[in-house]
Amino acid sequence: MKRRDFVQICAASATGVTLPGPASAGTLTARMYARAKLVDEKGEPLRLARLQPGANYVFDYPYAATPCFLLRLHRAAAGGIDLRTDSGGAYRWEGGVGKDKSVVAYSAICAHKMTYPTRQVSFIGYRDAPSPVAGPGKVITCCSDRSVYDPAAGARVVSGPAPQPLATILLEHDPGADETYALGTFGGEMFDAFFRKYDFRLQLEMGPRARSSIDGTTVVRTLESYSLQWARC
Ligand code: FES
Repeated sequence: MKRRDFVQICAASATGVTLPGPASAGTLTARMYARAKLVDEKGEPLRLARLQPGANYVFDYPYAATPCFLLRLHRAAAGGIDLRTDSGGAYRWEGGVGKDKSVVAYSAICAHKMTYPTRQVSFIGYRDAPSPVAGPGKVITCCSDRSVYDPAAGARVVSGPAPQPLATILLEHDPGADETYALGTFGGEMFDAFFRKYDFRLQLEMGPRARSSIDGTTVVRTLESYSLQWARC
């Protein structure tokens, strides 16, 4: 596993980076990984304005086997939301990126028992529409044990057994070039536990590539093309 750089949170260092500001409540640090440009399936830079609001997009980051959700919400995600991990680390989520601040990204590994989108099926995903589990909708639901997260509020836990929010994926948007980069994570990432739990499966499916770092570019796909089936709840 590539060595990670741990940086002290102080201030956003570039336009559009979702790093917390000096007023950050907590002690948590952002974890910076290799900077990766988000591209479409043709390898072209992903244009945020072309994302369908309310649709599920998935990209792998910071490892080849760790999927993340990219969502364009229906309205700006304002940020300034104080959150806490299961171990008590406090952090402030600073909202979305893009022209209208509506684009957010989170690790797609459920904070309860690490359900995640596989190539075969996904039991976790953003649900726009109302449902018995999603309530009025516009939340991320994990159908394994019915955890519900609010993507407009740092993926805080709305209901269910998840003990902490989904980890935030730090994004940087360059408005001039309209290019977007993944930079690292913030909050309670679970990659070490994920690789321990799924080591056998990931070795079978991907071999040693599973733990390779995403570097350079990462392809953004719809959840429907990332997973053959999507179990909604
Ligand atoms: S694994 Fe997602 S709610 Fe249990």
